[in-house]
Amino acid sequence: MNFRSDNEAPVNPKILQAIVDANNGCEESYGYDSYTLKLQEQMQQLFGCWCDVIPLTTGTAANSLAMALMTPPYGSLFCSENAHMMSDECGAPEFFSAGAKLIGVSGENGKIDIEVLEKTLAGTGVHGEHECLPSAISITQSTEAGTLYSLDEIKQIDEIKQKYGLYLHMDGSRIANAVATMDCSIADLTWKSGVDLLSFGATKNGAMIAEALIIFNPKIGKEIKRMRKRAGHLISKMRFVSAQLLAYLEDDLWLQLANHANQMAQDVYLQLQNTHEFIYPVQANEVFLRLRGDEIEQLQKQGFEFHVWPGSTDIIRLVFSHATKQTDVTKLIAALKI
Ligand SMILES: Cc1ncc(COP(=O)(O)O)c(C=O)c1O
Repeated sequence: MNFRSDNEAPVNPKILQAIVDANNGCEESYGYDSYTLKLQEQMQQLFGCWCDVIPLTTGTAANSLAMALMTPPYGSLFCSENAHMMSDECGAPEFFSAGAKLIGVSGENGKIDIEVLEKTLAGTGVHGEHECLPSAISITQSTEAGTLYSLDEIKQIDEIKQKYGLYLHMDGSRIANAVATMDCSIADLTWKSGVDLLSFGATKNGAMIAEALIIFNPKIGKEIKRMRKRAGHLISKMRFVSAQLLAYLEDDLWLQLANHANQMAQDVYLQLQNTHEFIYPVQANEVFLRLRGDEIEQLQKQGFEFHVWPGSTDIIRLVFSHATKQTDVTKLIAALKI
């Protein structure tokens, strides 16, 4: 019974079928195929605006190319101190941007504290040419803690972005889980709230290998195609990535899958909220629980797989996916109730 990661979940059958269906004869390579061209249209329809869609195979590539677009080599990007870009991408964002600097901003619940962000930015500039040029902010939606920035919080961050002349990136590795919970559209959550670039994730939510960098701001995306090639991410048989994304969008499959994952997390929260300590609000598809060492051992012995959170001995992370079985969740709740 796997609650370790949504990366460990299988591929949704409709997406797998779309790959098989795309395997029909020859198509132009390097993104000039009919699937990738259609994907541009479908994404523009989804977002209700012009956007440039860059299909990719990893979230790290999307985040790193975003950083390279927004930040000169002598620039800096402000993100949560817990951001994936900060701790889990092996320096790829700095590498792709030819040496720009990531600056971690503290905050509760896996988010940037907006006042701390403002104060940090207000303190820049005093060292002149000795310090990196503030260039961008990145927020993750939903966050690594399974929490959400509200629309109002994103708008406040946008105001800071405008005040300091920065760009705003959203790491949407789990954007579907955020949209599924929030009472707004993906457009409201992104470009309408000032997001210039979005790393649009699909792999964690049912695709096999499919992410996309969505560029809303035409000013920063001009050289993306060369940068993608130079970074080794121009996929020759791009149709198979685009076909996954098309199937993911069709009939709102992306939202159906995310709804299921979120519901599983909510079930655990609703059943255990009065008896267990939840480390963060449960707003998407991840649950962080405090348990005793012997409770953790008992769960593991019963075949439940999850991460004991690095740096702690008493916090576990449970991740629910599009494929999590209700029966497994029922068993998990029963085991936790003992
Ligand atoms: C929030 C977030 N962003 C980005 C990524 C990077 O994705 P990938 O492993 O495909 O590079 C992950 C992966 O776990 C993630 O959780």
